[in-house]
Amino acid sequence: PLVNLRTVLDHAASHGYGVPAFNVNNLEQIQAIMEAAQAADSPVILQASAGARKYAGEPYLRHMVLAAAESHPRLPIVLHQDHGASPAVCLQAIRSGFTSVMMDGSLREDAKTPASYDYNVDVTRRVCEMAHAVGVSVEGELGCLGSLETGEAGEEDGVGAAGKLTHDMLLTDPAQARDFVARTGVDALAIAIGTSHGAYKFTRQPTGDILAIDRIAAIHAQIPDTHLVMHGSSSVPQEWLALIRQYGGDIRETYGVPVEEIVRGIRHGVRKVNIDTDIRLAMTGAMREAFARQPAEFDPRKALEAARKAARGICQARFEAFGCAGHG
Ligand code: G3H
Ligand code: 13P
Ligand code: NA
Ligand code: ZN
Repeated sequence: PLVNLRTVLDHAASHGYGVPAFNVNNLEQIQAIMEAAQAADSPVILQASAGARKYAGEPYLRHMVLAAAESHPRLPIVLHQDHGASPAVCLQAIRSGFTSVMMDGSLREDAKTPASYDYNVDVTRRVCEMAHAVGVSVEGELGCLGSLETGEAGEEDGVGAAGKLTHDMLLTDPAQARDFVARTGVDALAIAIGTSHGAYKFTRQPTGDILAIDRIAAIHAQIPDTHLVMHGSSSVPQEWLALIRQYGGDIRETYGVPVEEIVRGIRHGVRKVNIDTDIRLAMTGAMREAFARQPAEFDPRKALEAARKAARGICQARFEAFGCAGHG
C-alpha cells in the first residue's frame, strides 16, 4: 500500500537501518525497483523530480506507481516529490496523490540561487502546515549540495546552485538544524556534507576532508527525532563506468560515495538515501552493451530488459547494504 515517509522512516529509525530513495521516470525503472524490493523484502521509496513529471507526464507517473502498489500489495511504498522548488509545486504533488514532499528551500524558486535562511524557514513551514493537515510527510533541506573540492553544485542543468558556493554553505550547521526543525516541523531533513548530484562528485576516492560523514552524528545529536536524508548518494561504480566506456560512451574519471561510507552515515542517523545516477549508469551500460552485441536486433524490449535487470541488481544491492532487507 502507499504510506507516508514518516511511517517508513520511523520504523527504519527504531530498527537502525536506512532506506534507499530511488528516482523514477519510466516503467522499467519502477519495475526494477519493485522487483528488487520484493526479492529483498524491503520498504520502497519512489521519488519523482519535477523533471520526471515533465518527462513522463503526471497521470502516467501516478498510474505507474499505483500499478506498482497493485502488483506488490504487501510492500509499503512511499511516493515522494523530490526537490520541490516552491509551496505550489508541493501542493500540486499532494493533489496528485504523493504521500511525501520535499520542499527544497535551500535554493530560490529558480532552483539555482542559494536562498536566505529566513526564506527557507518560511516556505518549509508553510508546506508543513498544508501537508501535515492531510497526512503527507515533508522533507526540508538545510545547506547546499556541492563539492567541497571545487565549490560547484555539480549538476549542470538539473537541481543545484549555479556559481561558486562557500565552504559554510556546503556543510549543514548542527545548531542551525535544530532551530530549523523547531521552526518548521519537518519530518526529514536533507543535509549538506560534500555530496552533489550526478556522476561527477569527486575527482578522487573521497576522504573525510571532502566527504564529511562525521558531521552527521553532530547533526543527529541536535535533532534526534528528525530523519536525516543524504542526497547525491550514488556510488558511481567503476565497473559500470568501464562498461559504458567499453561500448563507446564518454565518461571522465570520477568517483561517487562509497557504499561503506553511506552505511557509516546510517549508523550515525541517516534514514533516507537518495539515488538516481547509479540507476542511470547501470541502464545506460546495459543498453550500450545490448545494442553493441546484437546489432541486428531491433526489438527495443531486448535492450530495455537488459537495462531493467541491471537496475534491479543495483537496487537489490542497496536494499541489502542499508539493512532494509526483511523489513518490507
Ligand atoms: O535531484 C536530482 C535528481 O537526480 C533528479 O534529476 O531533475 O534530471 O530528474 P532530474
Ligand atoms: P545522485 O545523483 O547521486 O544519484 O543523487 C540523487 C539525488 O540526490 C536525488 O535527489
Ligand atoms: Na528528496
Ligand atoms: Zn537530491
